[in-house]
Amino acid sequence: MALGKEKLQLLFRFALVFSVVLTSALRTLDSDQELQDSGFGRPPPRHGLKLLGWYVQDCLDNNMRALCDPTKGEFGFHKFQNLRPQKLLPIIEDEKQYAYYTIGNLHSLQAEDLPFEVKRYYNRSDPKSNMDRVLVRYNINNKHIDQIYASAHYDPNETYIIGPNLLAFLRQQPHISIEM
Ligand SMILES: *[C@@H]1O[C@H](CO)[C@@H](O)[C@H](O)[C@H]1NC(C)=O
Ligand SMILES: *[C@@H]1O[C@H](CO)[C@@H](O)[C@H](O)[C@H]1NC(C)=O
Repeated sequence: MALGKEKLQLLFRFALVFSVVLTSALRTLDSDQELQDSGFGRPPPRHGLKLLGWYVQDCLDNNMRALCDPTKGEFGFHKFQNLRPQKLLPIIEDEKQYAYYTIGNLHSLQAEDLPFEVKRYYNRSDPKSNMDRVLVRYNINNKHIDQIYASAHYDPNETYIIGPNLLAFLRQQPHISIEM
């Protein structure tokens, strides 16, 4: 029956919209002030702010092309599966083209290559010193990053979209001077 099918499609579309709403409830930080107010990545021993500053300055070119290859595990990058019961990040429809990668776990072997200022306060006995992550949405085909997230150990309430104005701000800062 045509009508039944239409209703189903409508229902399906609602479900889709609803799930998108559910999974994209992340807050966007789009200024230095908002970043500071969020409390993300500081004070030491937290390393998120230094990590974020380093990442946007040293791992991206001006066109958002990835200079640190997440697929090769550089600096401890690894794939983020986004499988938790409440998917943390928006669902990726086209998995052939896009994937999420995460960086910042100082336990991982290749994290040794991170700059000193990022690893400085790392203390194996203090989980706070290793709770921050930077996540990226990577376009596998053109090797560009099209979204950056900051997260305090994948807690949805402490995971943020980095907005374009904040990104531009961070890229202008000499990263040594990003205030902790
Ligand atoms: C590492 O963390 C533990 C637990 O918080 C603390 O007792 C210890 O003093 C810290 N070590 C250093 C070198 O900061
Ligand atoms: C979310 O985080 C904010 C600020 O860190 C806090 O005030 C609030 O209670 C948290 N909410 C939940 C549900 O954890």
